[in-house]
Amino acid sequence: MGKDKLRKFAEIATFENVFQKDEGKKMKGHWAQGHFGNNSPIILELACGKGEYSVNMALLFPDKNFIGVDYKGNRLWRGAKTAMEENIRNVAFLRIQIENIIDYFDEGEVSEIWITFPDPQPQKSREKKRLTAPPFLDRYKAVLAPGSPVHLKTDNDDLFTYTLEVLSAHSLPILVNTNDLYNSTFLNEVLAIKTYYERKYLTTGKNINYLKWQLL
Ligand SMILES: C[S@@+](CC[C@H](N)C(=O)[O-])C[C@H]1O[C@@H](n2cnc3c(N)ncnc32)[C@H](O)[C@@H]1O
Repeated sequence: MGKDKLRKFAEIATFENVFQKDEGKKMKGHWAQGHFGNNSPIILELACGKGEYSVNMALLFPDKNFIGVDYKGNRLWRGAKTAMEENIRNVAFLRIQIENIIDYFDEGEVSEIWITFPDPQPQKSREKKRLTAPPFLDRYKAVLAPGSPVHLKTDNDDLFTYTLEVLSAHSLPILVNTNDLYNSTFLNEVLAIKTYYERKYLTTGKNINYLKWQLL
């Protein structure tokens, strides 16, 4: 492993806004009071990478709490460092496999989920790894308050189509659906936040897909 990665791993272990495995498990059911010191809603960014959505939404919505989730510590490091440097108190990061999300949040503890540019996992054999595959939706449902929204932003047209098929097969209400966010009327200050990967795709002229649905 490169020196820079090792340094970032060592650093996040000392960051008070980063939780890893067992530390995170202890927070189950206590995130708002136990870490943020309030009763505000908890919003997750899954596959957060460097955490652009978590950090920027935390700035836009000081009365909500945001937690970026990813297993790559060197990526989380960026968001966590920015949040500390800019004293953004309503954002934290959780370094775990999203597969294990129910070990870290209680039933109904989460108010909203954003999934930002997840790996598309195009091979059929890896369908179960797609973050919008039915077993993941079941886990999200277990931690979300009833009727809460889930958002997906993706450059990947196949993952977008796949997700639409899954939602339709489960009769889940789709609230917003566009395959060209930046040329749609849905664009607003939240949807205009750009992630690291998104910026790369946009420079190649790629359309950005966006879906918002409800988990009942
Ligand atoms: C293409 S990157 C997108 C990162 C960021 N959202 C962005 O748009 O710049 C996908 C991210 O998903 C994370 N990821 C994929 N599957 C995951 C899983 N099962 N659990 C945790 N993180 C996962 C990867 O570590 C990676 O950082």
